[in-house]
Amino acid sequence: MISVLLLTLIPLEYVGTAATSKFASLNATLGDRLGRTHPISEPCYDDSTSDACKYVQENYVNSTFRRDVYGAMMYPVWETCFATDQGCVLNYQDPTDPTPWTTQKCEIGSLSSAYLAVESAADVQAAFAFANSTGTLLSIKNTGHDFVGRSVLKNSLALWTHKLNNISYNAVFVPEGGQADVNYTAITLGAGAQWFDVYKFADEHNVTVVGGYHPTVGASGGYLMGAGYSVLTPTLGLGVDRVLQFKIVTPDGVYRTANEYQNADLFWALRGGGGGTFGVVLESTILATPQLTLQVVSVSFNRTEETARNFLKLVIDNGVEWSNAGWGGHIYQNSFISVNPLLTHEEALESMQNASDYVLALNGSVVIEELPSFFAFFEKYVPTAEAVVGVHPVLGTRLISTSIFSNESAKAQLLEAFSAMIPFATVDPQINAVTPFLYKHMENATSVLPAWRDALWQVVFAAEVSWNATEAEKQEVFSLVNEITQPLRDVSPDSGAYMNEAFIYEPDFDTAFWGDNYPRLLALKHKYDPNGLLDCWHCVGWQGAQDERYSCYPDFAS
Ligand SMILES: Cc1cc2nc3c(=O)[nH]c(=O)nc-3n(C[C@H](O)[C@H](O)[C@H](O)COP(=O)(O)OP(=O)(O)OC[C@H]3O[C@@H](n4cnc5c(N)ncnc54)[C@H](O)[C@@H]3O)c2cc1C
Ligand SMILES: *[C@@H]1O[C@H](CO)[C@@H](O)[C@H](O)[C@H]1NC(C)=O
Ligand SMILES: *[C@@H]1O[C@H](CO)[C@@H](O)[C@H](O)[C@H]1NC(C)=O
Ligand SMILES: *[C@@H]1O[C@H](CO)[C@@H](O)[C@H](O)[C@H]1NC(C)=O
Ligand SMILES: *[C@@H]1O[C@H](CO)[C@@H](O)[C@H](O)[C@H]1NC(C)=O
Ligand SMILES: *[C@@H]1O[C@H](CO)[C@@H](O)[C@H](O)[C@H]1NC(C)=O
Ligand SMILES: *[C@@H]1O[C@H](CO)[C@@H](O)[C@H](O)[C@H]1NC(C)=O
Ligand SMILES: *[C@@H]1O[C@H](CO)[C@@H](O)[C@H](O)[C@H]1NC(C)=O
Ligand SMILES: *[C@@H]1O[C@H](CO)[C@@H](O)[C@H](O)[C@H]1NC(C)=O
Ligand SMILES: *[C@@H]1O[C@H](CO)[C@@H](O)[C@H](O)[C@H]1NC(C)=O
Ligand SMILES: *[C@@H]1O[C@H](CO)[C@@H](O)[C@H](O)[C@H]1NC(C)=O
Ligand SMILES: *[C@@H]1O[C@H](CO)[C@@H](O)[C@H](O)[C@H]1NC(C)=O
Ligand SMILES: *[C@@H]1O[C@H](CO)[C@@H](O)[C@H](O)[C@H]1NC(C)=O
Repeated sequence: MISVLLLTLIPLEYVGTAATSKFASLNATLGDRLGRTHPISEPCYDDSTSDACKYVQENYVNSTFRRDVYGAMMYPVWETCFATDQGCVLNYQDPTDPTPWTTQKCEIGSLSSAYLAVESAADVQAAFAFANSTGTLLSIKNTGHDFVGRSVLKNSLALWTHKLNNISYNAVFVPEGGQADVNYTAITLGAGAQWFDVYKFADEHNVTVVGGYHPTVGASGGYLMGAGYSVLTPTLGLGVDRVLQFKIVTPDGVYRTANEYQNADLFWALRGGGGGTFGVVLESTILATPQLTLQVVSVSFNRTEETARNFLKLVIDNGVEWSNAGWGGHIYQNSFISVNPLLTHEEALESMQNASDYVLALNGSVVIEELPSFFAFFEKYVPTAEAVVGVHPVLGTRLISTSIFSNESAKAQLLEAFSAMIPFATVDPQINAVTPFLYKHMENATSVLPAWRDALWQVVFAAEVSWNATEAEKQEVFSLVNEITQPLRDVSPDSGAYMNEAFIYEPDFDTAFWGDNYPRLLALKHKYDPNGLLDCWHCVGWQGAQDERYSCYPDFAS
């Protein structure tokens, strides 16, 4: 064992030099714009008394801080080589805990040693040509929100889209190649734009867009290509339903416009086939809808196991009726927030009567109010309810088919599946009423998992691995997540799982994430990426866990 003192004296640059020299020619081609990665917590390993370290500690779970740094993922477990524990993280439960930097050295982990902040199509073309001729692996990072580590890849050159954050408004948008009389009101987003900025911009133009429930989730990356749900999805559709055009460099080096008129097969693939697979998107254009008045309901109460279970039963019993009324929202075991663009205030009060009666009887809180816009809702409710970053979650998810709600024994089975989560403090069942329940989609226009169309809910939950989990502890968490997910798979066997919020080891991921669309997606992957320059974990065309790219994913045998 080398002494701890010696380890802390080795600067990171030494670790990085060999790895980065292979990028020298590309760096020259790109005008010295290749960045050298510094893990976000490196200052604490360098000098834990420094102001820089203090800033990292204070902002460790701050997504705005993390999004602006290549060397940070939203979930730092992905900054590390998860299988070997090499990395440079802090103890997320107490970022001032000196254990990390006194017992470990700061290592690059799964992060790329070199990254390019992409500015143009030519940048991406240069990177593909370099990868093609040198065998260098590539990875694509936007915000780093991916829950299964798809935005990092050990030893790769990283293409970071963060700088492409332009947003523009088109009162009359005609997809390129189309006719002027088929036009839309739309917003065009650089690939790095994030939802808070997009919502604010849309509001300034008096329109509504459909996007994610977190200010820093990317608007054009993994979210948009993987499905993209919103509390407005029940009435306005998924992100993939509303995208009108992509601009993308495919791995064959061609800069393409993909819409219903040009590269229509690629357009189909990008509407659900997932990020990181068919090329690097530089820009997307999404449909804008007139400003909406929303009814908002927010309820919460202090739970016991019994009141939580009864609340979940009430939610199961009322779920179909609420979705028929136009509600979309996020439901937990002792609270929910939902929005509705279809009802008047009086209708909303009436529609939510069963929930308010239950919660008020427990002395809980019930707010039902009308707000003038989606942005007003987002600003008021989301920052206080958004998911935490900086932690090390392991998710499980399932879409729950609407058909089971007319079957009493299946409903009872679902309640048991939810109830099994209640005793675990961190395994809160999150019932997302965010499927396109009332939305009339265009058949075959998207490659998204078809089960979204027949589902009432998407259910997701997270367990956590500690920052320094042992191999046995990791396996325990994986087993727990799998065991809690299995009853959800059993109760809704013909649906599937949302690829963006899935268990790392979801069985038969291709069918679970894409259903019958998988074979055509795979054919298009081979068409646009003939040399296999892009690959990511459980993505279309995935090379498999044995591929050396995935040496940082722990094995899980179950
Ligand atoms: C706090 C939080 C809240 C969330 N809320 C929602 C929600 O409300 N609705 C919802 O549907 N999902 C939600 N998600 C899931 C989210 O959609 C995924 O995490 C998604 O992968 C994030 O995409 P990104 O581009 O921001 O992240 P990244 O991790 O940067 O990228 C995700 C994937 O897309 C690829 N990618 C990114 N940009 C590009 C590009 N320009 N071209 C090609 N590939 C690209 C990456 O390689 C990676 O495979 C949430 C996630 C978090 C962490
Ligand atoms: C690229 O060149 C610049 C200028 O010399 C240098 O600062 C940077 O570290 C280089 N990038 C890599 C990945 O080596
Ligand atoms: C989060 O980080 C950003 C950028 O570093 C900073 O401006 C902001 O004040 C931080 N937020 C909080 C709540 O500390
Ligand atoms: C990749 O290399 C092949 C030959 O091995 C070549 O035909 C192709 O054009 C190259 N693609 C890119 C993007 O450079
Ligand atoms: C950026 O957005 C502005 C409007 O917000 C628009 O005028 C401009 O053309 C856009 N630039 C690019 C490069 O797309
Ligand atoms: C947009 O489409 C509508 C409906 O087809 C048409 O009346 C209008 O003229 C079009 N606008 C433009 C600028 O072409
Ligand atoms: C905003 O849009 C709404 C709905 O289309 C409309 O009623 C309202 O007049 C618009 N407001 C402004 C300031 O343009
Ligand atoms: C309230 O619940 C009852 C019984 O579960 C159900 O019959 C009724 O339709 C519900 N009311 C509303 C408004 O959802
Ligand atoms: C609610 O509050 C009232 C008055 O404070 C009290 O009598 C009652 O027991 C409380 N009920 C519950 C379920 O806590
Ligand atoms: C819930 O618990 C908190 C903290 O104990 C308390 O302040 C609050 O009044 C409780 N609310 C209800 C409805 O009992
Ligand atoms: C109802 O659900 C149970 C599973 O809980 C299943 O065995 C049964 O076949 C279902 N009945 C119908 C009519 O679908
Ligand atoms: C959608 O695709 C299926 C399977 O290829 C086909 O049977 C069906 O006719 C298509 N529907 C439309 C509206 O194109
Ligand atoms: C993980 O770190 C904590 C302190 O942060 C320590 O108490 C615990 O023993 C460590 N666990 C292992 C397995 O090293």
